[in-house]
Order: sequence, then C-alpha cells, then structure tokens
Amino acid sequence: MDSIVVKGNGALSGAIPIAGAKNACLTLMPATLLSDEPLTLTNAPRLSDIATMTQLLQSLGAEVASLQDGLVLAMSSHTITSHTADYDIVRKMRASILVLGPMLARDGHAIVSLPGGCAIGARPVDLHLKALEAMGADLDLRDGYVHAKAPGGRLKGAVFEFPFVSVGATENALMAATLAKGTTVLKTAAREPEIVDLARCLRKMGARIEGEGTSTIAIEGVDRLHGATHQVVADRIELGTYMLVPAICGGDIECLGGTIDLVGAFAERLDAAGVSVTQTNRGVKVSRKNGRVRAVDVTTAPYPGFPTDLQAQMMALLCTAEGTSVLEEKIFENRFMHAPELIRMGARIEVHGGHATVTGVPKLKGARVMATDLRASVSLILAALAAEGETVVSRVYHLDRGYERVEEKLRACGALIERVKAA
Ligand code: EPZ
Repeated sequence: MDSIVVKGNGALSGAIPIAGAKNACLTLMPATLLSDEPLTLTNAPRLSDIATMTQLLQSLGAEVASLQDGLVLAMSSHTITSHTADYDIVRKMRASILVLGPMLARDGHAIVSLPGGCAIGARPVDLHLKALEAMGADLDLRDGYVHAKAPGGRLKGAVFEFPFVSVGATENALMAATLAKGTTVLKTAAREPEIVDLARCLRKMGARIEGEGTSTIAIEGVDRLHGATHQVVADRIELGTYMLVPAICGGDIECLGGTIDLVGAFAERLDAAGVSVTQTNRGVKVSRKNGRVRAVDVTTAPYPGFPTDLQAQMMALLCTAEGTSVLEEKIFENRFMHAPELIRMGARIEVHGGHATVTGVPKLKGARVMATDLRASVSLILAALAAEGETVVSRVYHLDRGYERVEEKLRACGALIERVKAA
C-alpha cells in the first residue's frame, strides 16, 4: 500500500486548481441510466470512486468512455442489459445505491445490493427506499439485495416528506421522479450544490424540475429523457480542503475555479478564526500572515451549514489554534477517527460521543499515522504540512477516492510531499 511522506516547511503560497465535484459526478453518472441517448459530463474529477462508478455502470450495460485524460466522461445507456448491481461493486462504494432510482424509473425493475455499514457510521438506505415506495415501488429485501419493481412498469408521482435531510436519498428520489407518471413533491429535500447540479443536468435532459436548492423540490414526470452535455460543478470539499492549507501553514493560496458561496458556512468559520478569505475573478484566495489562528466552535449540519466532509480538516487547523475549540459532529456517528491519529502528532483532543474538544498547541510534530477514511486522510496531510519534522501517512488509497493529484497540487505551492509506492 502506498504512503505519503510530508516534511513540514513553513508557509505555502501559490495557486491550486479545483476539480469537478466527486459527489456531484457520482450522482450525475447514474443519470445516464435514465435515457437511451448519450450523456456527456465535462470537468469530471480523476478519482478511483469515479472508476468504481464507471465499472458499475458498465456492468449494467452502459458504455462509459473516459476522454481527455479523464476530464470528459462520454456515457451512453442505449439499453440496460443487466438490472442487478452486484454486491462486489456496491460494497466498495455506497454511492452505488444511486443506480436504483434511475433503473427502476426507466425499466420498472432493479435489483441492487444493500451497501452495508462503513467506517464513518451505519449509514442505512431506508430513506432511499421509503421515497421510492411512496412512488409506488414494491420492494423486497432478500439475500442482501433490494428487489424493486414498479407495478405496471412505471413509478407514479407522490408527495414525500423526508424525516430528515439525506443527500443520497434526495438524489435517488429526484432521478426516479423525472420519469414517474404525474408530479412528485419532495419535502425536507437536501439543498446541497450537488443536488442543484443534478437538477440542472436532468433539466437539460428534458426533466421538469422546480425548487432545487430549497427544501421542497417539485418534479413533473415526463415519458422520456434525452441526451445532454453537462459540466460538473466545482468540488466544494476539495476547495475547502485547500483553503485550509494557508490557514494552517501560513501563506497565501488562490484556489482556482471555486466560489465562496459553495462553502459559505465554512468560510465564515475561517474568518472567525482570523484567516482572510476573498473572492477573486479566478476563484477564492486565502491568506494568513503571522501568529496562530483563534479557536472557534464548529457544528456540522446539512447545507448550507458547516459540511461534515470538512470537519476532519477543520479539526487539523484547530489543533494549532490559540485556545480551545469544540467540534460537534451531527451527521455521522463515528466521524472522529482522525482524532487519535492527530493525537499521535501532538494534538490535544478529547472525544466524547459526538463532541470533540480541541486545545490548540503551538506546533504539531511529525509522526507515522494511518488514514482511516477519505476526509480523515487529508486532515492528516494538512496537519503534516504544518508539523515539525516528517510525517508518514499510510493507507492513502482512501485519499485517492476523493482527491486527484494531491502531491502535485501541494508541491506547486512549495510543499515537501511525496508518494512512496508500496514495494
Ligand atoms: C453524501 O453521503 C456524501 N456522499 C457524503 O460524502 C457526505 O458526507 C454526506 O452526503 C453528507 O453531506 C456522496 O454524495 C457520494 P446522507 P450520503 O444520506 O448521501 C443518514 C465524502 O467524504 N441516513 O445525506 O450517504 C446517514 O446515515 C462522503 O465525500 C439514514 O439514516 O449522506 C447520515 O447519518 C462521505 N438513512 C445522514 O442520514 C438513509 O436512507 C446523512 O446522510 C440515508 C441516510
């Protein structure tokens, strides 16, 4: 297994290009299953999760060509040749459940493996299933698979209120509703930029959708969707992650391609910590000059709140702040696994259930640490950039799921970082 070796060397400055959003691309790709005409995505990120979704779609009969060094995904699902999403692929990536709604909506049947738990929590898919049931789907859970059928071959419009916000369940229901008979209204829908991006793409394909970006989305089903070309929105989590580089190391970095409104609540916390954040005509510029950042409290929440996907990285910053910060994780029940690894680097953190209390130290120290999930792994890299001495982060395959060319992007700003290939 590869590892990443980082030597902390002070302030970092430069420009970092922000890729297309992993989590938008992972929901836009299954949208190809809704139409027999081609769907082309531009600004796709080059990540192992995208390769996994490609493999899943191909196993269902979709053609997926990766063009222009992976930046363009040309997909075509003329016919769905298999309606079964196999456990061997689904277990690798939970977003695989997003093929359920589209297949069921287009052909009236689908069999999709249940994803199972994962490192950050139990993560059930009951809300995905309840929304589809509200649209008339007959669901049968057998042998670890959801066997789904739409009576008469077509889902029907429904009013469905999610008991709480789920990004994935909103995406699955939204895609399914585009081809249902009649109008669907989704209440307490997720408002994430990835939902807005999906709705925009579906509309280009001929879907009739209103209200994306608010908590009520109305979808009037149509008989068929057609082909489209769509540019994937910028990755707000990659943006936030690189905004933390000058915050934690000092320096001045311009993230090319993002906008502050994608990360409003996060940018507000950075500002409160004493980090300067400004919008430029090329992206977002972040700088920190002298002294340590101030401690700030953070509570994760669905968009437009502080994203859970930036909690680990923010914790890395707060490990070096002046004062004590409290981080509250409200989305996933087990998302503090980076804390024991940061403690190995000299951080002072106490975790009690969903709260972590972080008392900043003047300097972290390099150590051997282990990545436990995607965002945890990059939080360790951020900590390592600011630490004294050398840090070796192992199990970096987690990182490759969601960050393309990390070493290259950071080296361009002066970081001493390299990947050591497993022997
Ligand atoms: C998406 O996951 C993202 N993944 C996650 O990003 C992100 O952390 C999460 O949204 C929250 O923002 C993708 O978009 C591919 P949810 P998702 O359904 O859709 C519970 C990353 O690092 N829940 O909004 O799976 C669930 O357990 C990843 O890039 C149910 O109980 O998240 C969680 O506690 C990790 N039943 C909460 O809701 C359900 O049926 C929110 O989950 C669905 C969810």
